[in-house]
Amino acid sequence: MNSTIKFAKKTLINNRRSNYTLPTNTKLYPAQWNWDSAFIALGYSNFNLDYSFKEIETLISGQWDDGMIPHILFHIKDLNYTPNYKAWNCGGKISSSGITQPPILASILRIIIERQKFSKKKVKKYQTLILKIKKYLKWFIRYRDPKRTGLISILHPWESGYDNSPLWDKPMSKVKIDSKLNYKRKDNKIVKKSQRPLKIDYDRYVTIKNHLRQLNYDPKKLYFKSKFNVVDVGFNSLFLKALKDLDFLLKFIGKKSSFLKKYILLNESKLVKLYNSKKMKFKNKDLKNNTSVEIPSITNFFMLFADLNNNLINRELIKSLKKYSKNEKYFFPSISSKHKSFEEKRYWRGPVWVNCNWIIYQGLKNKDKKFAEIIRKKTINLVEKKKFREYYSCKSGLGMGAKNFSWTAALYLDFKLNRS
Ligand code: GLC
Repeated sequence: MNSTIKFAKKTLINNRRSNYTLPTNTKLYPAQWNWDSAFIALGYSNFNLDYSFKEIETLISGQWDDGMIPHILFHIKDLNYTPNYKAWNCGGKISSSGITQPPILASILRIIIERQKFSKKKVKKYQTLILKIKKYLKWFIRYRDPKRTGLISILHPWESGYDNSPLWDKPMSKVKIDSKLNYKRKDNKIVKKSQRPLKIDYDRYVTIKNHLRQLNYDPKKLYFKSKFNVVDVGFNSLFLKALKDLDFLLKFIGKKSSFLKKYILLNESKLVKLYNSKKMKFKNKDLKNNTSVEIPSITNFFMLFADLNNNLINRELIKSLKKYSKNEKYFFPSISSKHKSFEEKRYWRGPVWVNCNWIIYQGLKNKDKKFAEIIRKKTINLVEKKKFREYYSCKSGLGMGAKNFSWTAALYLDFKLNRS
């Protein structure tokens, strides 16, 4: 067996605790993260299906009564991460954060079930999981689009998963930093400061979070009162795909939801409007400040993953994506290297992330096989050369952030072992 494949499996197993997996074995992220776990479950499905389902079940076991699946589950009371479980002060049986992350879980579960060619009877075994995911997606519509505009809001940059992206600079600049902030960061002691968010950004993250806590994480109030409320193209694309994949899973177990089906149509029609065909640009909406944000971010191309029912837009998107990555040795940069906000080494402000490549690849493989294959090969080469890092420079391929990063190992396995 190829040694990187062996090492990838070993990395996941080493990062595994009882029934869930840490994002890395360093102290950087000592808990279970929502979208990390979904990618990790997919990685396991390539060699240990039992671990895949355990990972998903543990994640879903942290679901709140209202339906939200939090972005972090603190299974052990580790204080190494800031804000830790005490600072969040919420969750049910399992302490958690009070916000969520992209619901990629639905799409991952569909891929696992389809690839394994599960019979209807076998899928029925996972009926409870599927129905809990349904409750989760309904939660988004109910509380993140209470006015039924057709677009879902995120209420904290951390909900996007691309925490430190320049996409949030403009909306964040309006957040007045709480003068009584009292917290100590741990992340920039573990990873080079120059690769992590600036203090001014972290101060704002904590200010927004503290305010959500003051509101008792009451989902009915947060949408209207949060200091941050953004409709993001990338997030909505992942959400739309999750809805479509859930619909597929529901059919498998002989159920349906006309409520969700209607929202798929509405969400898709509104998402398309965030794309300007003439300018080949995407618009995110800052609802809090009633303005728009246009940043050339790879996450805009998650629209390809959403499988829009619109060949013209899909073709234009691919053309625009090719332009976006034309001069890069390694791709995809998280932010176009031509944009003024691009930083080669800082976290989500430029580096290559393997999960973004995987999402784009999935979106492309039924639309442009040749380009999809280039992405697959380039990602595999980068990871085989630099091993399982959290992110990489698009200029030199330098590996940065955490080492032994779980989703990089998991998605490497997925790229390597599943050619479209
Ligand atoms: C960082 C990333 C986020 C990820 C988490 C754990 O916060 O921005 O996407 O889920 O680390 O890996």
